[in-house]
Amino acid sequence: MKFGLGKAVGLAVALGAAAGQAQCPDFTTYAQSPQGTPSEGPLGLPYMRPDPACRTFNSTAVEKVIDDMKARLKDPDIARLFENAFPNTLDTTVKYFNATENLAFIITGYVSAQWLRDTGNQFAQYRSLLSSDKELATLVKAVINNEARYVSQYPYCGAFQPPPESGLAPTVNGYAIDVIVNPPVDNQTVFECKYELDSLCSFLKLSSSYYQTTKDSSFMNTEWFNAISQIFNVIWEQSQPTFDADFNLISYYNWTGGAGSLSPAVNNGGNGEPRGAPGLVATHHRPSDDLSTFPFLTPANAMLVVELDNLASILDDAGKANNVSQQARQYSKTISDAIWNSTLVNNIFAYETNGLGSRYVMDDANVPSLLSLPYLDFLNITHPAYVATRKLLLSRQNPYFAKGKNFSGIGGPHVDAWNPWPMSQISAIFGTDDDAEILESLYLIANNTAGLGLIHESVSIYDGSYTRPWFAWANSYFSEMLLDLASRKPGLIFKENKPYVPGQ
Ligand SMILES: *[C@@H]1O[C@H](CO)[C@@H](O)[C@H](O)[C@H]1NC(C)=O
Ligand SMILES: *[C@@H]1O[C@H](CO)[C@@H](O)[C@H](O)[C@H]1NC(C)=O
Ligand SMILES: *[C@@H]1O[C@H](CO)[C@@H](O)[C@H](O)[C@H]1NC(C)=O
Ligand SMILES: *[C@@H]1O[C@H](CO)[C@@H](O)[C@H](O)[C@H]1NC(C)=O
Ligand SMILES: *[C@@H]1O[C@H](CO)[C@@H](O)[C@H](O)[C@H]1NC(C)=O
Ligand SMILES: *[C@@H]1O[C@H](CO)[C@@H](O)[C@H](O)[C@H]1NC(C)=O
Ligand SMILES: *[C@@H]1O[C@H](CO)[C@@H](O)[C@H](O)[C@H]1NC(C)=O
Ligand SMILES: *[C@@H]1O[C@H](CO)[C@@H](O)[C@H](O)[C@H]1NC(C)=O
Ligand SMILES: *[C@@H]1O[C@H](CO)[C@@H](O)[C@H](O)[C@H]1NC(C)=O
Repeated sequence: MKFGLGKAVGLAVALGAAAGQAQCPDFTTYAQSPQGTPSEGPLGLPYMRPDPACRTFNSTAVEKVIDDMKARLKDPDIARLFENAFPNTLDTTVKYFNATENLAFIITGYVSAQWLRDTGNQFAQYRSLLSSDKELATLVKAVINNEARYVSQYPYCGAFQPPPESGLAPTVNGYAIDVIVNPPVDNQTVFECKYELDSLCSFLKLSSSYYQTTKDSSFMNTEWFNAISQIFNVIWEQSQPTFDADFNLISYYNWTGGAGSLSPAVNNGGNGEPRGAPGLVATHHRPSDDLSTFPFLTPANAMLVVELDNLASILDDAGKANNVSQQARQYSKTISDAIWNSTLVNNIFAYETNGLGSRYVMDDANVPSLLSLPYLDFLNITHPAYVATRKLLLSRQNPYFAKGKNFSGIGGPHVDAWNPWPMSQISAIFGTDDDAEILESLYLIANNTAGLGLIHESVSIYDGSYTRPWFAWANSYFSEMLLDLASRKPGLIFKENKPYVPGQ
């Protein structure tokens, strides 16, 4: 999303926590100055949760995890970061929820729209609680149901407007007004129709993780199967090359910006760079919402491999749609083979390829990225291809790695090359077993919240200034990582070397 540069710009601003309650401050504003009593560690981080009356969803299970973690963590500053970050999605982003209608609308932070990608990740840290907290599980099911509706109607789009039942007004996206997109979309339902393959993976991931924890298959309704079928259509269409054997143009989707829209016009009639057909699935924009350089994004394809397998597993487990499950496994295998066959050279994964021999060796800041391949469950952190690629990504050989006196990590053209994202340090932690590396990344993040105790989009390597005061996904990802350390490396962060798993 290009909406997050610096402070709140004039467009598409969400009303903030518990919109409609006049006494509740706008969270974008609230998040830009320290609130509450500082934590007792050297960083003295503020308490940034909104007032209870302004929170958009309450969960006693979530409160218990916060208490459990605070009691165990040895560093009060890390405890405070967790306390602010873990509940951020529920505290601030549930704009609409009606269990009877089975619909929920979750905003990304200060833009009042629902991104498939963000939503899937915003709830990841609550996963283990879904079996014990019925109300929270009902909320996640309602998110899945709302997204099934979006995906079955507009499988190429990534960000959406509130469901009509909510009575919430759609948000005008100034950057989408002059965009020409095919197939065309209705801006009462779609906020932005950039096609990003990982958005579809996120929908699959949310569905699978919900099922795996709850064993409730009731979300697999007609709408949901329609969405799956649309995802298969996209996979097929986007596996086709730019030209057939006679150089006829093959285009199922094209997107181009006109005057006034933020992104520039896109080459080749809005199709982007020409491509071959190596068995990978093309994307048009990156997970940062920036235009892809080459269409085959390795990490998004890796995520697709994993999520198609998960889809097959939950369908088999629920005893449903065997043909869909078989198709999912077949696609997963084809794509996996193509990743290993066409993106790897000397054990180094390319970030993007075109299936014709060109490759772009780099990594971008958020997820899915190459650095996050183990987090995505595509490979093991000890795999030689990950070890070699990771070493390159965290060096000058990755053009978007940067290091300065305040901060270091991987950035991207979305902000710029000298503003790495804390999310890249989180991915780095998921990708290593080395205690020293983990602590270095953890404290790079903790030391660089501009004293605000929340996780931001990007941080300047030169002066520690940041972008996006309210970014729910980044907060979720941070707390998911800390919960992972709680079970994987308790001695590193806890007073006692005893693993902790929420909900157990
Ligand atoms: C959450 O609980 C507080 C009381 O602690 C209440 O004022 C608030 O309305 C609740 N929020 C929701 C969405 O129910
Ligand atoms: C939820 O939706 C149902 C059906 O539209 C409606 O009757 C009910 O009033 C709604 N509940 C709330 C709390 O808005
Ligand atoms: C939808 O598009 C029309 C025509 O460009 C524009 O006037 C309107 O403001 C847009 N509405 C939203 C919610 O984006
Ligand atoms: C754009 O995509 C549509 C299908 O959505 C297709 O009919 C049209 O030919 C494409 N145009 C170009 C220039 O690629
Ligand atoms: C699976 O079978 C159903 C029912 O026959 C059919 O509607 C659907 O298109 C099939 N899906 C796939 C992926 O084969
Ligand atoms: C890689 O490509 C070669 C040649 O196209 C093929 O024979 C081989 O089976 C492929 N390997 C995998 C793992 O897909
Ligand atoms: C990774 O591989 C190593 C060695 O094969 C194994 O010991 C370890 O359990 C694996 N880790 C994960 C997370 O699968
Ligand atoms: C974080 O800040 C502390 C001082 O408060 C410093 O000792 C430590 O080296 C810093 N860690 C990193 C990784 O920057
Ligand atoms: C950036 O680093 C400088 C020098 O280490 C420090 O004085 C400053 O407070 C840092 N800025 C932020 C926003 O953390």
